[in-house]
Amino acid sequence: MKVFITKAIPELGIRMIENAGHEVTVYPPDLELTQEKLIEACQKQDAVLLAAFGTIDRHFLEACKHLKVIALYSVGYDSVDIKAATELKIPVGNTPGVLSRATADIAFLLMMAVSRKAFYNYQKILDGNWKAFEPVEDLGLELYGKTLGIFGLGKIGFEMARLCQGAFNMKVIYHNRKSNEEYAGPLNAKYVSFDEMLAQSDVLSLHANLSESTKGLMDRNAFSKMKPNAIFINTARGAMHNEHDLKEALENGVIWGAGLDVTNPEPMDKDNPLLRMPNVCVLPHIGSATAETRNEMARLAANNIIAGLKGEHLPTIINSEVYE
Ligand code: DGY
Repeated sequence: MKVFITKAIPELGIRMIENAGHEVTVYPPDLELTQEKLIEACQKQDAVLLAAFGTIDRHFLEACKHLKVIALYSVGYDSVDIKAATELKIPVGNTPGVLSRATADIAFLLMMAVSRKAFYNYQKILDGNWKAFEPVEDLGLELYGKTLGIFGLGKIGFEMARLCQGAFNMKVIYHNRKSNEEYAGPLNAKYVSFDEMLAQSDVLSLHANLSESTKGLMDRNAFSKMKPNAIFINTARGAMHNEHDLKEALENGVIWGAGLDVTNPEPMDKDNPLLRMPNVCVLPHIGSATAETRNEMARLAANNIIAGLKGEHLPTIINSEVYE
């Protein structure tokens, strides 16, 4: 059968699909892939593997309802209209679990980089501004014994909390829709209300899914409830914070610093003022970008394609209701 891949993924995944007897087409990297082109390409395909493609809406899904499987090369599935895919009986798979550590590493890295103004200090060297030792200039904040707030305690939040406890003996509090003892127990993490989490966190790290209830959640009102020396970290989805309100909170000292691996929109404009702020560190959505993790993501996505083409349940499915 025929499989369309929107962008080159690690060889391992492509070989797995080919070794299962399928014909793979990878869209050329130098050509822009619009939704209409993707719809056209998918007419002659049996499955699609979506690596970094924009929104998969009802229009796409209705035009491609013949697809036996859609495999996402990501754990997040906010880009896909899952309700429509389920109604149209298209199984959609993602890549959960394998990127938790790599993404938590980036949240931890950003927390440390922000706390010592690392990117800003590096830029000072590049600009030729490394001057003599300054006793009171560009001081950072220490993290030892501080309180870490995790919004969305799942696998990634758990790994971030583990790192923070191991490195800095941080106390962990968290907020989810409901308490999660599986992860909270080993961390000795305390379940608190959303507002308590905002008020008590020295570092607040977002790890929830993007949904109608989390979109724009971190706005002026939320930042105003945080400590003035708090660090805000977002490695989940850019649309969960209001960028205008975040910038205002940083400029007015409502919070102390911010580390972002995700922005809204992506890519962030190179002239965005956040990139020049001393207490802000921004990375270009590289949470899962290690060779090991990307290989494992390719393996899970390929397994979903192979199972879907055999008419079997996808091993990591988002909308298992399609089988009901
Ligand atoms: C994911 O897997 O969801 C990463 O954020 C990449 O989109």
